[in-house]
Amino acid sequence: MDNMTFVLFGATGDLAKRKIYPALYNLYREGRMPEKISVVGLGRREYTDSKLQSVIKEALESFSRREVEPSGLEEFLEKFRYCIFDATKPESYDKLHQFIKDRESELDIPDNRLFYLSVAPTLIKTITEGLHESGISSNAGWKRLMVEKPFGSDLVTARDLNKKLKEVFTEDEIFRIDHYLGKPMVQKLESLVHANPMLKALLDHDQISNVQITASETVGVGTRAAYYDQAGAIRDMVQNHLLQLVMMTALYNPDKMSTSEIEAEKRGIMESLKPITKENMEENVVRGQYAAGQIEGQAVPAYLEEAGVAEDSNNDTFFAARLEIDNENWRGIPFYIRTGKRMKKKSTRIVVEFKCDGDEEALKDDGIEPNLLIIEINPNESMTLKINIKNQSEEKFEPEYITFSNVSATQPEAYELLLHDAMQGNETFFAHWKEVELSWKWVQPLLDEFEKDGLPLYKYPAGSDGPEEAHHLLKEDGHQWWYV
Ligand SMILES: NC(=O)c1ccc[n+]([C@@H]2O[C@H](COP(=O)([O-])OP(=O)(O)OC[C@H]3O[C@@H](n4cnc5c(N)ncnc54)[C@H](OP(=O)(O)O)[C@@H]3O)[C@@H](O)[C@H]2O)c1
Repeated sequence: MDNMTFVLFGATGDLAKRKIYPALYNLYREGRMPEKISVVGLGRREYTDSKLQSVIKEALESFSRREVEPSGLEEFLEKFRYCIFDATKPESYDKLHQFIKDRESELDIPDNRLFYLSVAPTLIKTITEGLHESGISSNAGWKRLMVEKPFGSDLVTARDLNKKLKEVFTEDEIFRIDHYLGKPMVQKLESLVHANPMLKALLDHDQISNVQITASETVGVGTRAAYYDQAGAIRDMVQNHLLQLVMMTALYNPDKMSTSEIEAEKRGIMESLKPITKENMEENVVRGQYAAGQIEGQAVPAYLEEAGVAEDSNNDTFFAARLEIDNENWRGIPFYIRTGKRMKKKSTRIVVEFKCDGDEEALKDDGIEPNLLIIEINPNESMTLKINIKNQSEEKFEPEYITFSNVSATQPEAYELLLHDAMQGNETFFAHWKEVELSWKWVQPLLDEFEKDGLPLYKYPAGSDGPEEAHHLLKEDGHQWWYV
């Protein structure tokens, strides 16, 4: 891996502490960092190098999946320096430029620069412009930009933001983070069929009845009301994470794919996704908002009673929809997606339901249920096959489960995989512009209708599996949600 400078905007923030420092530490422990790396942490706070290093040490002790070991810790922390920096002040950039160059000469490393923007979305354009105008991004070595979500707040703002970034960075240099794409199980989806020819037969599309993708949380809005009450589940989860999971699930190519082939396939899937229009929205989409209820026996308040939420807010905390991918592989196979806060269980999973041959009533009488392939992404990682086995004593069938699972503690965190890929310049598991644009395009009619309150907002009790109407969505097609 090339020696480089890693410039971290937002080094004093929450994301840096909870995700970025632990990810860098675990990469370091595995020998998956460049031999020489200068990490420059930035923020307005008046930290010194040693203050930043002690903040990082505390963050590792709280959030690293590996226990912090004294051996090597000093060497790891020594890679970090702190530069006081205000993104809104032009003079900050000249100071930063000199700071980066001084460290490059001190460490005798080339001017390869990876910029990570872990700051509020409102600062992204300002920082990108500052990097350009100061010459920081006009280096002779390579340059890369990592950007956190959200990427815009609708189609227009996303396009505008992208245009600004493209004035300074090429598409190959922009790494848009969708941390769902960093989850190890999601990354495995792409090679599943290629590496397991058996699955090619199993995933014969003539045998698939429907696909269900769920991302449910038990937590409420917490301290994020200022952002979430504007964004809702549709922007926070659907436009990015859920649609990326749809693309990754629908990737169907038995051959090994290159990054550009995966990108083209994903784009094709988004282009084949039938638009949801004002006319067909109500029959295909359910939005909800949590009412008071109980989570694990504890009473929790309604969304409208949460701190920072407008008392008459009509924001969605739940979203479910029926999607149709109109291409050769998936035509006629519905994809159901749902996401919600304050649901019964925390779970991100994909369920592929297979068709059952024969008379429905007779199958039921025999205890035969549809076969399922269950891919659990979070909190555990596993693949499970649900099959029917005859119970000798009662002469009936009972479901049995064959599970292949990974031990979560030894699995890398999403941010480790994403940071490692960006350091290597591998864009496979980042959101490419076309995917982002097509996702916003698909979501935009929904945003417009939600804005006008044109779609019912159903209440569901906290601790449930969402509004009843989300069950009707599947019942109408003769299906049911499998698990929460
Ligand atoms: N936290 C998460 O779990 C999470 C998950 C996904 C995406 N994100 C995204 O990641 C980004 C960062 O999130 P966060 O939770 O870390 O936010 P945060 O805790 O509020 O941190 C914001 C950072 O930005 C810096 N900052 C603010 N104004 C600045 C300015 N004018 N000049 C220079 N630095 C400035 C702050 O440093 P000073 O105060 O020292 O200036 C701080 O380090 C956001 O875009 C968020 O949407 C966060």
